[in-house]
Amino acid sequence: MSVTVLVGSQWGDEGKGKIVDILSKHYDIVTRYQGGANAGHTVSINNKQFILHLIPSGILREKVICVIGNGVVIDPTALIEEINLLEKNDIKVDGRLYISHNAHLIMPYHKLLDSINESGENKIGTTGRGIGPCYIDKYARKGIKIVDLLNRKLLEEKIRENLKEKNNLLKKVYGHEELDVDEIIKQYVEFDKLIDKYIKDVPAYLNGAISEGKSILLEGAQGALLDVDHGTYPYVTSSSPTSGGACTGTGIPPTKIDSVYGIVKAYTTRVGYGPFPTELLNDDGELLRKIGAEYGATTGRPRRCGWFDAFLVGYSAMINGIDSVAVTKLDVLSKFDEVKVCIGYELDGRSLKSFPTDVERLSKVKPVYETLPGWKKEISGCLSYSDLPKETKDYLKFISETSGIELKIISVGPNRNQTFFVN
Ligand code: GDP
Ligand code: IMO
Ligand code: MG
Repeated sequence: MSVTVLVGSQWGDEGKGKIVDILSKHYDIVTRYQGGANAGHTVSINNKQFILHLIPSGILREKVICVIGNGVVIDPTALIEEINLLEKNDIKVDGRLYISHNAHLIMPYHKLLDSINESGENKIGTTGRGIGPCYIDKYARKGIKIVDLLNRKLLEEKIRENLKEKNNLLKKVYGHEELDVDEIIKQYVEFDKLIDKYIKDVPAYLNGAISEGKSILLEGAQGALLDVDHGTYPYVTSSSPTSGGACTGTGIPPTKIDSVYGIVKAYTTRVGYGPFPTELLNDDGELLRKIGAEYGATTGRPRRCGWFDAFLVGYSAMINGIDSVAVTKLDVLSKFDEVKVCIGYELDGRSLKSFPTDVERLSKVKPVYETLPGWKKEISGCLSYSDLPKETKDYLKFISETSGIELKIISVGPNRNQTFFVN
């Protein structure tokens, strides 16, 4: 169990934060490898709730070292806010947080362009955190990296060069007022003073730690179906949340990854636009949202809700190489007389053999459901697998078999103690 990748197996918000917190007790280091402050990972300890956006969820375990890898895009304001909030709650960050010198910085124009793009016709329903525009600049080789903060002259040059182009775009294409370049330079120079102490050569650090026998948990953000390559493009995020992204986003080679944990919600949710075959646009969907408190941890937007999709999770298990699964929010299904599971899709009267990621086809599929009896009992107080009602165990067995996944952890509430292992 030395190097484990933990991935969201659906469309994000599966409860990764909670499970990272549970598992990190057994790891030395927890590392984020992609995404940015679009993530909202909730950890509840003794009914106190922490929502982490950039800092790995392992920060709440005092012996754990937390690392932000090169694949993450960092919004300085969000990072400083998060550090301050943690320290205000007596959680020590100094000496426990390292940031890759190769991570890219979210700039004010990234956030602005994100919101301008979203005000147009082709909306994705982004979190507005500047994620897409920042990764665009990264791949266009115009991005500003953490390491650039260490060289004032170069930093200033790079910001000026970028602003020339961005201000042109803002003014001439979008009719927006120009951004003040000197103000931005001042802001990022200030930022350097605050984060200098966290900067590290992360690939050297992590590979060195592995050689010393230390264990690492790689915390994915978002979910497999939001992956820019394997998700429901264009309704995706701009990074690689799937397990493959853990290597490029940290500098840990594939040969050093030992296992992949998939986090699966007991039903399905999605935030933003894009096809969602098992979505429930009825009272059942409302009930899931209400009982599951399905509102975004980052934006507060209501999450779209639907039945568990075993066909989708099976696809996710394949592309991520998932070997163990944690099922979360099982307690949310307790009110239903019956629960449905999607076991396949039909398109034009034919059953599909593989999951269609192209949105044209995915938006037309008809989910094929199996209906199972509900358990109609409160399970949030269950302390072990054997405490669960028979119908709940049957549901778990059914989703495990139809998705081709092995269940290891069951979560029946947001708190640490509402979690147990399957024996
Ligand atoms: P993440 O982005 O994958 O970390 O998930 P979020 O934190 O965005 O959303 C998961 C929400 O469900 C949070 O509010 C958690 O506190 C909550 N949660 C996690 N596990 C459970 C569970 O087993 N039962 C219930 N009722 N809530 C849970
Ligand atoms: P965690 O880590 C759920 C969604 C947005 C939008 C799309 C693109 O908490 O699971 P972006 O701002 O990334 O360009 O938005 O991706 N999205 C998430 N949905 N959970 C998340 O993170 C998400 N991060 C982004 O709603 O549909
Ligand atoms: Mg979330």
